[in-house]
Amino acid sequence: VTVVIKKEIKERFIQPTNVANVPILVLYGTEYGLSAEVAKKLEEEINKLTGMWARVVDMEEYEMIEFDKEQLVLIITSTYGDGVPPTTARPFFDYLDANEFDFSHIQFCVLALGDRSYPYFCQAGKMMEKYFEKCKAQKIRDRYEVDQEDWTLFDKWIETVCSNVIPTLKGLETRSDDYLYEKAKAFAGNQGKHHKKKPYQSKLLVKRLLTQQGLKDKVGYHFEFELGDSELKFIPGDALGILADNPASEVAEIISLFKKSASFKINTPGWHYQEGEQANPSQITLEHILTKCYDIHNLKPELISHLKDNCKNAGEKEKLEALLSAGTGKANTVLTKFLEEHHLVDVLKMFPSARAQNLDDTISQLAKLLPRYYSIASSMRKDDKTVALCVAVVKYNLHGTERVGIASTHMAERMKIGDKVSIYVNNNPDFRLPEDPSTPILMIGPGTGIAPFVAFIQERLSLEATGENHLFFGCRRSDEDFLYKQELENWANDGHIKLYTAFSRETSEKVYVQNRLLENSQQICDLIQAGGHIYVCGDAKYMAVDVHAALATILTKHMSIDQAEAENLLHQLEKQKRYQKDTWF
Ligand code: 2AM
Repeated sequence: VTVVIKKEIKERFIQPTNVANVPILVLYGTEYGLSAEVAKKLEEEINKLTGMWARVVDMEEYEMIEFDKEQLVLIITSTYGDGVPPTTARPFFDYLDANEFDFSHIQFCVLALGDRSYPYFCQAGKMMEKYFEKCKAQKIRDRYEVDQEDWTLFDKWIETVCSNVIPTLKGLETRSDDYLYEKAKAFAGNQGKHHKKKPYQSKLLVKRLLTQQGLKDKVGYHFEFELGDSELKFIPGDALGILADNPASEVAEIISLFKKSASFKINTPGWHYQEGEQANPSQITLEHILTKCYDIHNLKPELISHLKDNCKNAGEKEKLEALLSAGTGKANTVLTKFLEEHHLVDVLKMFPSARAQNLDDTISQLAKLLPRYYSIASSMRKDDKTVALCVAVVKYNLHGTERVGIASTHMAERMKIGDKVSIYVNNNPDFRLPEDPSTPILMIGPGTGIAPFVAFIQERLSLEATGENHLFFGCRRSDEDFLYKQELENWANDGHIKLYTAFSRETSEKVYVQNRLLENSQQICDLIQAGGHIYVCGDAKYMAVDVHAALATILTKHMSIDQAEAENLLHQLEKQKRYQKDTWF
């Protein structure tokens, strides 16, 4: 491969390595770990079904020089937020985008994971396919796009690749023994002291209720965690990954339903995130793995099918069969609804005779307990010993049963001051303050969307930034859920920020942040024309859409342009990173 390499990334990517002689590369890019999980499964199936060996590499860790020796590359990538590649895979994408390689010796195909509720479904997978085609790699199969919730389709793709595709490819060599050594080495290597694969056990220092006592929903807390000697670093806009425990009472109930003891030794290829590489698989107990490694709320269809296969009672078996045969994949709405409404505890109680001989097999049918991300609500320039979060406690009613968010209730209800939780920093390069501190900024963050803006304001004050700070905050009532009321009002009184509030339930008509934007439209337009940056944080489904529409209206009104031109202008601002969003569904 002849390469023209940008100097600044040369060091990162080009290091001579003793590349393992393994014919198949499974290359994944992941944000929350799902693509990694699918990649691992593919690797296992390749070995099982073809007898060949594959190696699994995170795009973040792949060394580009190895493309020289690749034969078959199976790419699995998810798409993040508004159609961007997973954060840690970004340099890899950028590198392929910016360079022309000769990959004509490589055969490849792409599994693209996406979420249909976001725009630009499977965009990162499309990009990867385009890059490989540009480099003249031989596509052995069209890109396969899957909604991330559709587990059965992942399996279908894996099965097709292993049974129908790989066996037809010629000249793939088998693995040398060097590989085992290389692989062991790759697992041992990591950068920095604490990261996703090796989180830091941080002590809770502060827990402060931000909403009125006794609220039934929308309860908000401010948390502060110590950073100790973790060497964790973050800048405003970054998020904190939290690995919360499942509730102990529920875990205990599951253990008793399995008729086992808490100390029962379990041996699944679980994701021992919480202990990172220190985990010793032979020491893992049932209690530990159910508390920290697996999701006991969001169940997969595979579990139901596994229980059916291991069910002894005819009546129960019939019920399980009925659930499974009501359709295929996502079209099986009966099963989907059942899985939404039932936690592991409920299912085990309903089907007491459905117990596998080997509990490891049952546990392996559970999804991995994924980290939850929260925008960081503090600046290291102000305090480099702690990290703060603003968290809404997630509790809702689903078809008559109460559902709770694992991480938010873990922090709010199951953690005391001094307790520890696993944390790491997740960089968010798409949500960054302007480099020039004299640039004015417009921050729009109703509800917990306020979190990163607390960090932004602290940072700008520490930097003595001269640019204006305009903050639009919205909540239900000024005396109920006005998060950081005191802090925001003090900053406003001291002239550090211009604060605009929208209380939606104090008047007969709803007042939202976008109404306040429209009321101040001339000022907003001036700010944008003066080179200001716009930031939106919070609900993606309604708020960010409505705010976007309000911004377009403001531009049409004050710049005498039409709707399409306003949209185009906002799009340009997005591309110039002057209009950034940190939103969620
Ligand atoms: P509501 O619940 O009274 O409708 C934080 O959650 C605040 O955002 C609440 O005041 C909430 O109002 C408001 N909100 C709800 N939908 C919104 C939308 N589409 N745009 C802006 N704010 C919204």
